[in-house]
Amino acid sequence: MRQPFVAGNWKMNGSRASVCELVEGLIQGIDSVTNAAVAVCPSFVYLADVQRMLSDTRIALGAQNLSDREPGAFTGEIAGAMLKDFDCKYVIVGHSERRALYGESDELVARKFTVALENGLTPIFCLGELLQERQQNQTESVIARQLDVILTLPGGVEGLRGAVIAYEPVWAIGTGMSASPAQAQEVHAFIRQRIAKKDAKVAAGVQILYGGSVKPDNAAELFSQADIDGGLIGGASLDAQSFLDICRATSA
Ligand code: 13P
Repeated sequence: MRQPFVAGNWKMNGSRASVCELVEGLIQGIDSVTNAAVAVCPSFVYLADVQRMLSDTRIALGAQNLSDREPGAFTGEIAGAMLKDFDCKYVIVGHSERRALYGESDELVARKFTVALENGLTPIFCLGELLQERQQNQTESVIARQLDVILTLPGGVEGLRGAVIAYEPVWAIGTGMSASPAQAQEVHAFIRQRIAKKDAKVAAGVQILYGGSVKPDNAAELFSQADIDGGLIGGASLDAQSFLDICRATSA
């Protein structure tokens, strides 16, 4: 049985004060979330504050990015070991915003994935197609290409034992236009089947989250799909009550 998992990706949002207020609200309400594992991914600069507040709670900490390098002369970069130093359990890699706006290639994403594992972090590996690719019936080929970059790493499919996958159709991110539960389930099943061709056990165990305009009112139906194990939440994770509602929707 895969445990449901909901992670909040706060992106480049918030102030020190608003982030602390948000964490306070989550701590107060987390006992009402009975079955899902929960994590939040603040901006790097707030990791220390959030780490301090979350110690002794069951909310895990994650980061939104990491360097593909080991510590050294790489101005402006953040190493996996530094994230570990702040008790990060998770790190997002391959988010479409980083692919599209910061030119991250499949190869760079793969190196970040490997470096995350090497540093004892659980990568939340994001993949997803553009609207144009969906309209041209290329969804499966795009997803296959992005996934195969990970499946063909030296560690192979084994790397996915310590990872989480997040399917985030780019057209659904921040648009208010979520994929329908059926559309999302179809891609999640495709991802799981493709992994199963390499290793059925890894495929059965890996958590595959859906991300893209998940809100309290559509979360339960998305999460009830056979291959959807929870969500990676952007906008709706910036409000404690709506994020907690989404976390609770895993048991609906
Ligand atoms: P939204 O929930 O704001 O659509 O963002 C999804 C996302 O990109 C999470 O990583």
